[in-house]
Amino acid sequence: MFKKIVKYAIIAPLALIMTGCGIFGGGNNQPYVDVIVTPPPTPTPEPTPEPTPTPDVDPTKKLIALTFDDGPRVESTALILDTLEKYHAKATFFVVGNCITNDERKANMKRAVELGCEIGNHSYSHPDAGKWKGLTYEEYCEQIDKTNEAVEAVTGIKPKVFRCPGGNLTDPLKKALRERNMPNMYWYIDTLDWRNRDVEMNVASVLESDRLKDGAIILMHDIHMPTAQACERIVKGLQEKGYQLVTISELFSAKGVELKGATTYYSSFSSKD
Ligand code: NI
Repeated sequence: MFKKIVKYAIIAPLALIMTGCGIFGGGNNQPYVDVIVTPPPTPTPEPTPEPTPTPDVDPTKKLIALTFDDGPRVESTALILDTLEKYHAKATFFVVGNCITNDERKANMKRAVELGCEIGNHSYSHPDAGKWKGLTYEEYCEQIDKTNEAVEAVTGIKPKVFRCPGGNLTDPLKKALRERNMPNMYWYIDTLDWRNRDVEMNVASVLESDRLKDGAIILMHDIHMPTAQACERIVKGLQEKGYQLVTISELFSAKGVELKGATTYYSSFSSKD
């Protein structure tokens, strides 16, 4: 009998602690949990705009991630946002830190987040390819961190995804991205909108692409007016083909792909470590 009491004296508190830790599933023993585990005082969090939650993403539908690089800009970015809002579509904007210069550009970023869009990191100063490839590890870190900070200062949300300017990934950059758990997000369809600067060509480069398929990431640039002007026909056309337009993070989440730092992704179905 005495032995039994000793046994329960040991087991019962242990079980309560484990329940408090969630090991036994917890939930039903709330009064005991409150007695044993005193949570640390929670500081009042700063109110931050959260991206729209994504219960509306239907993973059984075909998904596409439109991405826009090199902004933010004022008119062209706003026109793209008008289209996304009109068609309840989402996209990802890979912004350049030193382009976040005035209130109108910042307002576009805030509006993008309010519409459920994602803001990615496209370096701080977008050096040309030759210069970018020659940066040191410390300089890559600075390029990433300064833009993460600038985006967070405007939107309250730190970017989770990175895209190299000019698409050049080097070993010291991979180290910096790995440490920050940021994937390098490439594309599956390159619209060449920066070169075409033509609405018809931009529309065709997406809607008539033989690479258009479920899980594809599409590269465009919101700094060009013909891209912004093509956006309505692209979004409408994709939706008519049965695609749901989602952010990068939504795409990978819906496909059950966990993004890894420093890994390069071309689509939800193709990547390179
Ligand atoms: Ni770029």
